[in-house]
Amino acid sequence: MFSTCIELALLCHPILAFLTVQNSKMHIKHSNLHYFIFSFLSLLVLRYATSAYFIPSEIPVASLGLCTTKDQPNPIAHIYPGNATGTLNGTISVIPITLELARQLIPPQYGILEHAYRALLPDFPKGMYPAVVAALHDHEVQAFGYKIDDFSRSGFEFPFLDLLNDNHTSFKWAPSMLMTAGHDIALNGAQDYGTKTFPASFDPGCDAYRAVPNSKKPGTTYFSARSLEAGAASLTTLFSETEEEVFPLEFFKNFTNQPTFADGKSCDNMIRLFNTSVTTGSNTIQAVKGTVRANLFPFSAEREWRNVYGLRLDTAFIENNYLPCENFRGYGSE
Ligand SMILES: *[C@@H]1O[C@H](CO)[C@@H](O)[C@H](O)[C@H]1NC(C)=O
Ligand SMILES: *[C@@H]1O[C@H](CO)[C@@H](O)[C@H](O)[C@H]1NC(C)=O
Ligand SMILES: *[C@@H]1O[C@H](CO)[C@@H](O)[C@H](O)[C@H]1NC(C)=O
Ligand SMILES: *[C@@H]1O[C@H](CO)[C@@H](O)[C@H](O)[C@H]1NC(C)=O
Ligand SMILES: *[C@@H]1O[C@H](CO)[C@@H](O)[C@H](O)[C@H]1NC(C)=O
Repeated sequence: MFSTCIELALLCHPILAFLTVQNSKMHIKHSNLHYFIFSFLSLLVLRYATSAYFIPSEIPVASLGLCTTKDQPNPIAHIYPGNATGTLNGTISVIPITLELARQLIPPQYGILEHAYRALLPDFPKGMYPAVVAALHDHEVQAFGYKIDDFSRSGFEFPFLDLLNDNHTSFKWAPSMLMTAGHDIALNGAQDYGTKTFPASFDPGCDAYRAVPNSKKPGTTYFSARSLEAGAASLTTLFSETEEEVFPLEFFKNFTNQPTFADGKSCDNMIRLFNTSVTTGSNTIQAVKGTVRANLFPFSAEREWRNVYGLRLDTAFIENNYLPCENFRGYGSE
């Protein structure tokens, strides 16, 4: 009888937390902290509940989807214990598309700050816009000492957008994302921005990419994401190491650190640090060239791009979630 009560309480706790989170959306400015505390608390309770009550001991570990990542630990968690921090390992690549196509894909209310990307890329072809493909593994994401499970995600990003209509501040539109199926915290976290999320299976499951053995090209790596809903969304990359530096590192630093939005109601301030041990240590930043194939919103059909240039890297990050986009007027200007 008593244990049934505890189970009931444990089951209700995440629901209560969820209701609080729902309610907090109406007061978005004041409740970021609550959002975090409650989402982490509900996770903790869920974890405690599962480990204490629900896992029949005969389930083999492999069937729970556990695998071991090669990612190095989060090097900044102890520096910012009260902030959400983690590491992002993976590949970021640039897909030049025509400005005309960009204008069709990006909602019309967001201007394209062509002068902003041309300031960083003076030789970028005329009439073109740099769309971005990110294929990343989130590792040791934590705040207040509570870690969430690792997850993978990938999608298109559209940087250098004029969300505030000031013809100055660059924002990044991230309208859709393939994300590790079953990771409700990550999926709900992205959905709350208005991102179209596709629960997906990833290959590799616990890493940012994996080596392709016996490849003719040096340092070839593979990454694939496929939505559980058959045919809804997919993204595959095959990259090899290159000596060519087509896009300077400053360009990547600039757009990866632009505040990110989906429906424009709130902004995600993801601060990627390029100066910690995961970026400057034994695995340094590697320029890559390869092929991206994707069937993912906002593109209407499957597309393949060859000779795509990008970077393979790991960075630590600090993330400040669900902020009013207006807070970022002038952000990132020197
Ligand atoms: C990033 O991921 C790759 C692939 O799993 C791994 O080989 C590499 O060591 C990782 N980098 C860091 C700094 O953890
Ligand atoms: C850490 O979080 C606090 C409270 O949300 C915020 O004011 C601060 O700017 C964050 N620190 C960094 C380095 O982003
Ligand atoms: C990003 O690039 C723009 C030029 O487009 C520049 O004005 C801005 O200062 C850069 N921001 C950072 C943080 O480097
Ligand atoms: C936006 O700013 C750029 C660079 O300062 C300038 O060349 C352009 O004319 C401006 N556009 C508008 C619509 O004011
Ligand atoms: C790393 O860079 C961030 C800002 O980009 C800065 O706040 C921090 O002090 C730097 N850390 C080191 C060890 O240089």
